[in-house]
Amino acid sequence: MGKLDGKVAIVTGGARGLGRAYARRLAGLGAKIAVCDLNLKSYEEFEGEAKAMTADTTMDEIIAGGGESLGFEFDIGDRESVFAMVEDVAKAWGRVDILVANAGGGRGKPRETTASLVPQDLLELVTRMNFYGTVHSCSAVAPVMKEQRSGRIVTVASYAGSVAGVGGGYAHYGANKAAIAHYTRYLAQELGPHGINANCIAPGFIATARIVQLSGAGRGDNDQARHIPLRRVGYPEDCAKVVEFLVTDLSDYVTGALIPIDGGWNRAG
Ligand SMILES: NC(=O)c1ccc[n+]([C@@H]2O[C@H](COP(=O)([O-])OP(=O)(O)OC[C@H]3O[C@@H](n4cnc5c(N)ncnc54)[C@H](O)[C@@H]3O)[C@@H](O)[C@H]2O)c1
Repeated sequence: MGKLDGKVAIVTGGARGLGRAYARRLAGLGAKIAVCDLNLKSYEEFEGEAKAMTADTTMDEIIAGGGESLGFEFDIGDRESVFAMVEDVAKAWGRVDILVANAGGGRGKPRETTASLVPQDLLELVTRMNFYGTVHSCSAVAPVMKEQRSGRIVTVASYAGSVAGVGGGYAHYGANKAAIAHYTRYLAQELGPHGINANCIAPGFIATARIVQLSGAGRGDNDQARHIPLRRVGYPEDCAKVVEFLVTDLSDYVTGALIPIDGGWNRAG
């Protein structure tokens, strides 16, 4: 018996990286998984991500492991597509118990995205894929979860949503993640009386294969780790374990929380 047997979970941005880790972990606990992504083979963009794959897509990996999974390819910033996906999932499996609103990320370089200089096109793109995508996803699952009188929503902020980067670069990304964290508090207020918990995670420096490729960070022995009290970078499993906590009965009385997963990075005083 898995802890999530019979449950239905939607994981956005699940084709690679952290989203893939969430999808696989929840599938391992017995949930049926709807994987959503702009590109269901986005792992092809990074050699390390591609190497980690054990099948053609995250859905195929889950199915090969004995689970059930469906894939949906669309832009999370497109509200109609998000609602259509949720309708399809509910039609296919009869319910929606869990949303992990993970799709998102930054675009542009820190020096070209400082607070007063961030270009309009990058501001719009990053807001669409992070804040709008999160709001659309939560809005689309809410009616189904209200009807069921139960549900778990996990949104994804970032360390950058709490601490401004030195020099003010990546301001558009950090501000979007701060907005997601605060939006989640409002969501928890609205949905709590309907039996729905909504919490937000704030990953720190998590060494996905993409991040390792882009930053050169190794597993545990990079320069970044010197500034982290736990003296290591994070791994996708570190985040997936917290997601497991937030979508199972271990967190029945937790809602509206922002949970950093960052090894204590820069949280002195
Ligand atoms: N890796 C980290 O260290 C870290 C730290 C803090 C926060 N985060 C957040 O965690 C989440 C996942 O991070 P990751 O490192 O796995 O990122 P990633 O870029 O490796 O994966 C993101 C996935 O989302 C998909 N995606 C992007 N835009 C989309 C859109 N418009 N519609 C649908 N899907 C879209 C991508 O195709 C990709 O598969 C992001 O929200 C990110 O901001 C990551």
